[in-house]
Amino acid sequence: MDRIAITGGAQLNGEIPISGAKNSAIKLMAASLLTDEPLRLTNMPRLADTRFLGKLLTRLGASVDEKTGDQGAETVLHVPEIVSAIAPYDLVRQMRASFNVLGPLVARTGQAKVSLPGGCTIGARPVDLHLQALEALGAKIDLHEGYVFAQAPRGLKGAEITFPFVSVGATEHALLAAVLAKGVTVLHNCACEPEIGDLAECLNKMGAKVEGAGTPTITITGVAKLGGATHSVIPDRIEMGTYAVAAAMAGGEVRLTNSRPGLIDALLKKIEEAGAGVTETADGVIIKRNGSRLNAVDVETGVYPGFATDLQAQFMSLMTTAKGESRIRETIFENRFMHVPELARLGADISVSGGEAVVRGVEQLEGAEVMATDLRASVSLVIAGLVARGETVVSRIYHLDRGFERLEEKLGNCGAQVRRIHGEPDEL
Ligand code: EPZ
Repeated sequence: MDRIAITGGAQLNGEIPISGAKNSAIKLMAASLLTDEPLRLTNMPRLADTRFLGKLLTRLGASVDEKTGDQGAETVLHVPEIVSAIAPYDLVRQMRASFNVLGPLVARTGQAKVSLPGGCTIGARPVDLHLQALEALGAKIDLHEGYVFAQAPRGLKGAEITFPFVSVGATEHALLAAVLAKGVTVLHNCACEPEIGDLAECLNKMGAKVEGAGTPTITITGVAKLGGATHSVIPDRIEMGTYAVAAAMAGGEVRLTNSRPGLIDALLKKIEEAGAGVTETADGVIIKRNGSRLNAVDVETGVYPGFATDLQAQFMSLMTTAKGESRIRETIFENRFMHVPELARLGADISVSGGEAVVRGVEQLEGAEVMATDLRASVSLVIAGLVARGETVVSRIYHLDRGFERLEEKLGNCGAQVRRIHGEPDEL
């Protein structure tokens, strides 16, 4: 298994172009199941997760053509017919978002068999809201032997659905299913994350009638058929936020381009409050810090436009060397502090009680061997490694490869001492 080694101490100076959003790209790819015409996605990130979903979609009947066009990396997905409406455990287990093929498969073919995704390191992550939404749209849902069997032989029907709490995945799943349902669907208490607006925009280009995406109430007027479209994936706000934190941590001046700083307002305010410079530009933001130590600030994660849970681990890293004590509250996932013991191996002083971590800033971290536990946790260790004395080696970086495109190259181009070590770690 590959590892990443970081030699701490180098400032970051230069430019980092932000890729298309992973969490948008994978839902957009699932949307290709809704039409027999090609869907062309530009500004596509090249990640383990997108490759992985491509594999599942191929199994279901898609051709997935990755190429470099005039606007950079693009993927053309074409599903002339669904050759199998079964998503097996092996494929869904490895990436939860694969579960979102259920809705489009039922909407297009009237039936599907999709494995339940199971839990993951950041929490139990059930899919009850997804299933309730599909049931409300008229699908008959049965659970057997770890699989969801969904049937709607006469098609889905529009419905009024109120989510009991906000869920990104359930909002997107209901949207993906309702676009081909007969009649009008109104979704209440929806997630407002920018990736939902991106999905709705793409669906509308395909001929869907979706209004209100990005607000708590979304209205979908079902259509009989969707067609092909070309859509550019929204910039990855979590990647942008991650590099903003990395720049604030290492010091120097980094310009993040091809991005939209408005998508991470909550984070940028906190970075400024901590003492780093934040300047918005036409296509991104410049993060600058020279010399002085940052101040500790508190954060609490929340649904969009709140502070993203996907940036919590990175911000905790930043606080490990800040002056004072920072309180970090996680409100979205019940077990998203797996990075804490690993940061402690680097010398961080953090205690966790329930959903709150208290980080007491130390003057200096020390390089060590650490282990990635999930995607965002793993990048928080790389960020800590940027300032730790000596070498930090992060293992299990397959997590990192799921969501960060060419990370070593992007950081390395700004002066970071980061290298990938290929192969198995030495056995004891
Ligand atoms: C999406 O996960 C993202 N994943 C996550 O990013 C992100 O952390 C999360 O939204 C919150 O912003 C993708 O887009 C692929 P939720 P999702 O449904 O949709 C509970 C990353 O690192 N819940 O909004 O799964 C759930 O357990 C990943 O890129 C139910 O109880 O998040 C959680 O506590 C990690 N029942 C809360 O709701 C349900 O049916 C919010 O989850 C659905 C969710």
